[in-house]
Amino acid sequence: MSALSDQIIVALDVPTREEALSIVEELGAKVGAYKIGMQLYNACGPEILQAVKERNGRVFLDLKFHDIPNTVASAARVAANLDVFMFNVHASGGSAMMKAAAKALQEEAAKQGKKRPLLIAVTVLTSMSEEELQDEIGVSRAMAEQVAALAKLTKESGLDGVVASPREIKIIREVCGEDFLIVTPGIRPADAAADDQKRIKTPRDAVGDGADYLVIGRPITQAANRSAAVEAIVADMELAIK
Ligand code: C5P
Repeated sequence: MSALSDQIIVALDVPTREEALSIVEELGAKVGAYKIGMQLYNACGPEILQAVKERNGRVFLDLKFHDIPNTVASAARVAANLDVFMFNVHASGGSAMMKAAAKALQEEAAKQGKKRPLLIAVTVLTSMSEEELQDEIGVSRAMAEQVAALAKLTKESGLDGVVASPREIKIIREVCGEDFLIVTPGIRPADAAADDQKRIKTPRDAVGDGADYLVIGRPITQAANRSAAVEAIVADMELAIK
């Protein structure tokens, strides 16, 4: 397995255990991790995490916790004990919430003698427009400023990084520096269908802009040959570092 394939996180956006595990059985550790979100987790429960791990997959638990600090800290302890590779919270929960989650993770991992999961934050959902952000949510800053401010708050709160759309990578790198993970969805190989994604980048451009992990769903999960799809994506990523 190359280091570049380790940067690929496959989104398991499927409704059943069978469909999810057929993907994991085919790809195993050929990719860095599998993203399990609300659909699959709510359908299958935590057992699905164990099933993915048994098939040589690491898990990014994408449940976007957003609650009072004590509740999120407790959920973070559970995530540490579920041995997930990465999970996330909403940065708009604030620094007290994020710090409580980071502290709980450290403590729990130390207690169990385990490596702690990576903890990242969502800044602003990329489905949200600047009008919605300002008129509905009541934020007065422009979208780019809000994303940059929440990324900075995330870093100051001791988290490892953020989820960001491909167009936000550069500004976040500027504000948060090199030592901060950027996890990017909206990735499409040059010859793939955009599906419902509007602001896409190729694997090569996302890596070139400084993304650490690429979250990729349909271009891999719906490919006739999923291993070949992963290999083609890795070959495209390689072009960014040559
Ligand atoms: O199939 P596709 O590659 O579009 O899947 C991308 C994954 O990343 C989906 O799980 C989607 O919900 C998620 N995502 C996204 N855009 C964001 C945040 C998450 O596409 N801004």
